[in-house]
Amino acid sequence: MPMATSAKTRANRTSPAGPRRPRRPAAPAPPQLENAGRQAAIERAKLDWESTADALAALVCLLGQDGEITRTNRVIEDWSLGTVSGVVGKHAHAVLHPGCRNTRCAIAGFIKQSLGEIRDGSRQQFELQETIGARFLHLTIRPMRQRAGAESGRGDARAVLVVTDLSALYRAQDALERLNSSLEERVRARTQALADANRDLRNEIIRREQAEVALRGSRNELVALSEQLIGAQEGERKRIALELHDSVGQSLSAVKYTLERGLELLRQPRLGNPGAVFQLAVRRIQETAESIRSISMNLRPKLLDDLGAASAIQWFCRDFAEIYPSLTIVTELAVNDGQVPDRLATVVYRSVQELLNNVAKHSRAKHVLVKLSLDDNTLLLEVRDSGVGLEKATPESRRHGSGLRNLRERAQMTGGQFNIVQAPGRGTLAQLSWRLAEEDRAAPGIAARAAK
Ligand SMILES: Nc1ncnc2c1ncn2[C@@H]1O[C@H](COP(=O)(O)OP(=O)(O)OP(=O)(O)O)[C@@H](O)[C@H]1O
Ligand SMILES: [Mg+2]
Ligand SMILES: [Zn+2]
Repeated sequence: MPMATSAKTRANRTSPAGPRRPRRPAAPAPPQLENAGRQAAIERAKLDWESTADALAALVCLLGQDGEITRTNRVIEDWSLGTVSGVVGKHAHAVLHPGCRNTRCAIAGFIKQSLGEIRDGSRQQFELQETIGARFLHLTIRPMRQRAGAESGRGDARAVLVVTDLSALYRAQDALERLNSSLEERVRARTQALADANRDLRNEIIRREQAEVALRGSRNELVALSEQLIGAQEGERKRIALELHDSVGQSLSAVKYTLERGLELLRQPRLGNPGAVFQLAVRRIQETAESIRSISMNLRPKLLDDLGAASAIQWFCRDFAEIYPSLTIVTELAVNDGQVPDRLATVVYRSVQELLNNVAKHSRAKHVLVKLSLDDNTLLLEVRDSGVGLEKATPESRRHGSGLRNLRERAQMTGGQFNIVQAPGRGTLAQLSWRLAEEDRAAPGIAARAAK
């Protein structure tokens, strides 16, 4: 068998024990013995081939000159293409590519062309990659080594076809590529997320910086306001001291002087009537008591505590009109006591006092309107007179007065706004407004609480 020939050639070549130059010439063996030895060697070579070829993962086929399989390994069965003995004699294309009717099939052409060129001796190695079904195959064809001078007959193996299944490799490569691209996708997504977080962080830093600037601003404002508050309190104390000195102090001095004069008249009746002098002293004491009452009223009217801002203003206006009979005071108080929050009661009342005092002192007006309203959660106080207007006021008094300045500061400290405008010939309009907050509405003035 040509197969055996080939295997034997290799066995001879590869056997290190092969006695190329025997030390002693061996005695020639008898012909039957020589035949038996050759047969055993052939069997050994066959077994060698089988165990070697079966150990391979590739499909190995020995091909005859027309492409028919003369021998193959177990892989043919692993791939379910037939049995080791069943495929012998069948064309390799028919076995590898079952049911193929394609006359231009690449595999059929490859086998045919390779064997033709091997016959010519023009080429020694042929390769093809082709998919059959789900298998991605790599095919190589090489010529069989021939024993020198041996005649080759029909049916002798001419070539070795080795078919390797690369599907697993390609699948792994595919999976690797997919993994790679999903990794890239994840890296992209993560980079994007990091960029987003970075931008958010930068925005947050900007926001905090702005908040810090605003905080510094409002802190400075607070410092200025508390300075103003201290200043205003100081001014108030001076005013009280001055008032005590000017009215009470002077009155008491006058009373003391009158009483001393009365005593003198008691001692020397011829100088005059002591009774009239004592009567004067009583009147002065009454006046003093009156002015003490009015000073304390100015500090914080009892009415403000008992009733609330609107009622206290009403009372004050009536009282004021009695003191200044030439001035007609009209009140339009469209707000009840409960609607003026406690925190604003004093400042509203004080503002009316100051503005009416200014009207009486500076405006020479005949009429004045005092208005208190609540619209759209804004508390509005207006005092409008029909006097000479601000411009007519003496520059001297404008520079020295502190009433309007105090009023503006009080308004600002309580979150309100103050505005005074004058229209020449048409008098002066002073406006104070406070936008009421949620807590103002939740904590109404005294009267509303008392009513409960
Ligand atoms: N209703 C008004 N009509 C005309 N002029 C006015 C009126 N109100 C204020 N003025 C002018 O504005 C100036 C400033 O007023 P402001 O109340 O601040 O000071 P004052 O009344 O003079 O002094 P103070 O209030 O400290 O006792 C007044 O001196 C006056 O010239
Ligand atoms: Mg004033
Ligand atoms: Zn085919």
